[in-house]
Amino acid sequence: MRSASTPSHASTQTRRTNTNTNTVAARVAKKGDASQSEPVFTSPPDLEALNSPKEHGSATAATATKSSASSASSTTKKPSQNINIIPIGRWADGIPSAMGGHYLPSGSLAPLSNSKGPGIDIEPLYFDYPSSEVDTRVLVYDTPYAAAGGLAEEVAGASKAAIAAKGSFTIALSGGSLVKSLNALVARTDVDFSKWYVLFSDERVVSLSSADSNYKAAADEFLSKVPIPSSQILKIKEGLTASQTAEHYAGQMLDLSEEILPRFGAEKLPVLDMVLLGVGPDGHVASLFPNRKETAACADAGWVIPVVDSPKPPSARITLTMPVINAAKKVVVCALGEGKAEVVQRALEVQSLPGALPVQLVRPQEGLVWMLDTKSAQALSTGTWEDKKAYPRSEFAS
Ligand code: 6PG
Repeated sequence: MRSASTPSHASTQTRRTNTNTNTVAARVAKKGDASQSEPVFTSPPDLEALNSPKEHGSATAATATKSSASSASSTTKKPSQNINIIPIGRWADGIPSAMGGHYLPSGSLAPLSNSKGPGIDIEPLYFDYPSSEVDTRVLVYDTPYAAAGGLAEEVAGASKAAIAAKGSFTIALSGGSLVKSLNALVARTDVDFSKWYVLFSDERVVSLSSADSNYKAAADEFLSKVPIPSSQILKIKEGLTASQTAEHYAGQMLDLSEEILPRFGAEKLPVLDMVLLGVGPDGHVASLFPNRKETAACADAGWVIPVVDSPKPPSARITLTMPVINAAKKVVVCALGEGKAEVVQRALEVQSLPGALPVQLVRPQEGLVWMLDTKSAQALSTGTWEDKKAYPRSEFAS
């Protein structure tokens, strides 16, 4: 368990001179800290050796300097400059790039989000970019199959580290296309699934046998094929309202001992070992959608909150809050396929307006990994990542 004064440790990965690779490791540096913003080009995990993990070599210079306490507590303050009001109709063709908007590959400005808002008529919400720096590795694989192997490698590594440190591994899964990639974990003989505790970063409030259930999707693809004791898979209780479901789910999390799910900081946030997130084309993660009050929820909102009118069906959901996601040790964002190219480019290369791109608020304590394939990475200009400009690369102008 980390203490408030313990900085997150540096990420370590193999560095090769092999240029025949499309893997990029970049670190999200604090705005203005140009000296720490250089991307590092590295090789992907050795895909042929995914089932026999090999020792990683020399460390790259990637350091997160802010304490996790700073990350967690920053979610509770309400800076007045970060209000998501965009005067409606002012930029009919999209938000200018100077304001965080971005250009489409066609050259035209991206249209406004089709989620509720933005507009002067929406409830003003306070969003805060956590002040902590975080290591970010961006891994680009040739195919979704290779990406699934890379994801299995990341998860297996985190599982081993957690089990060695505290005897258990807690992981939160998302729904959507991500679950298909989990299938690659089934073949891992080096993972002690009996020590796993599986949660859901978000869940649709439907029956567990429904085709919409994130639990069912994960069970079909992965959970039913590995020896995780069923009592260690936290499922929603059926037949409740979204609000009751959220409360009941948080209760199950609270029932996990602090040895399994350590609490952290003054807010006693749960520290999950790993959270796996998909990302929607609008930048949502879990069920935290753009410009929504759930996305702005502070640490005191509870660990799990209801969403009753989700822009993505089904409308009733529960979700971990952003402070809980950010209290996790490690988060992997998995975005594969051409349909994700635009949001990937926007998230990694353009500062959006506060709250407009929830994935940009993700700042886990010990590292963030983006897993991409060549199709979802196609709009990135990684060649310019060495220009020493700090991330985000465009300025928010008020
Ligand atoms: C859900 C998810 C959601 C999902 C993204 C990406 O329950 O809907 O948890 O956050 O991960 O929408 O989904 P796709 O990868 O299917 O686009």
